[in-house]
Amino acid sequence: MKSNSPQPETRNGARILLTGAAGFIGSHTAEQLVMNGHQVIGLDNLSTGHLSNLNNLRGNQNFEFIEANVLDEYRFNRVMKQFQPHTIIHLAGLVSVVQAQQEPAINFSLNVQATDLIARSAVANGTRRVVFSSSAAVYGDLEEYMIHEDSPTRPIGLYGAAKLASENLLLGYARSYPLEVVCLRYFNVYGDRQDPKNPYSGVISIFSDRFSAGKPVKVFGDGEQTRDFVSVRDVARANRLAATVNEIQSGSRNICTGQSRSINDVVQIFQSIYPEAPNPDYAESRAGEILHSCGNGGYAAMMLGFEPYVSMEDGLSDLVAVQNLANYSANFVSPARRSTVPKEAAAQ
Ligand SMILES: NC(=O)c1ccc[n+]([C@@H]2O[C@H](COP(=O)([O-])OP(=O)(O)OC[C@H]3O[C@@H](n4cnc5c(N)ncnc54)[C@H](O)[C@@H]3O)[C@@H](O)[C@H]2O)c1
Repeated sequence: MKSNSPQPETRNGARILLTGAAGFIGSHTAEQLVMNGHQVIGLDNLSTGHLSNLNNLRGNQNFEFIEANVLDEYRFNRVMKQFQPHTIIHLAGLVSVVQAQQEPAINFSLNVQATDLIARSAVANGTRRVVFSSSAAVYGDLEEYMIHEDSPTRPIGLYGAAKLASENLLLGYARSYPLEVVCLRYFNVYGDRQDPKNPYSGVISIFSDRFSAGKPVKVFGDGEQTRDFVSVRDVARANRLAATVNEIQSGSRNICTGQSRSINDVVQIFQSIYPEAPNPDYAESRAGEILHSCGNGGYAAMMLGFEPYVSMEDGLSDLVAVQNLANYSANFVSPARRSTVPKEAAAQ
């Protein structure tokens, strides 16, 4: 899945303000930016993110973390004035589709109002570009098999509606002020640091958690529903490219693989990694579930030089390897500590 597209020129040593930096996608994005020589301020209120996600960046002089709420306008503007970023990557938000339905006011403030605050601050501080984490949820349940950016946008719930409202708002700012805006419509993102404890997490993090514990997974319907699963490493690279390519046209871009995989495919890949795993339990299909979703990533390839590198097989093996390492480290007792561990505990 290596890119054959010509790679556009990117800016070196950019100053980037990253909201939602301690989250799943944010922490991977922060690492990729810093690894590529950019200077990053990560802002997060740790509501769903974790400081431990940023362990790899601890002590790195090109990364600074600020614990703050994006809705705290005074504080946000102060950070903007001090740091004067070239680009803001805005990932902080309410991510749970179910919570967005149940608590529309929170959905509005986090997924729309915060976007407006960020755009106003960007304009006031001469920030050149805003990259926004939108979602394939803006399309809703389309008949089309391959979804491209000109496909109709008919979100079926408040989460997708808020993402679409934010896109429109940001693109309105781009037409009104000297501000570039790139809205990235991520499809189904998976990878390590996605919290499986959250019942609204992606299916892959839930499956991974259950397979590693030797428990059966639950598949709704016949398992033939398909999704376009994209690795978080590819999404982080898309964020980096969107933030740093020199020339850009404001607009919305799909971030996807262009390949759909069924839930049964995902189960099979996990079964090949965990051959002893019990068979899945099949349950009645969920009302209103979208059956098929696959993105066309042509625009992102053309405009950002982005194409996915990570195959599903590699992405899932990678996820399992990272999880095994984390479990091993959590259970590891160093030789120095071992002598202080009570005998009974050490024997377990
Ligand atoms: N994960 C996916 O499959 C997916 C798909 C499409 C779009 N997105 C979007 O990508 C973005 C990142 O999602 P994620 O999966 O990494 O979720 P996440 O929950 O891991 O990350 C969101 C981060 O934002 C922080 N945050 C929330 N409210 C905040 C506030 N008021 N102030 C400061 N920080 C705040 C959280 O603490 C968390 O660290 C979200 O905007 C989400 O809607 C995610």
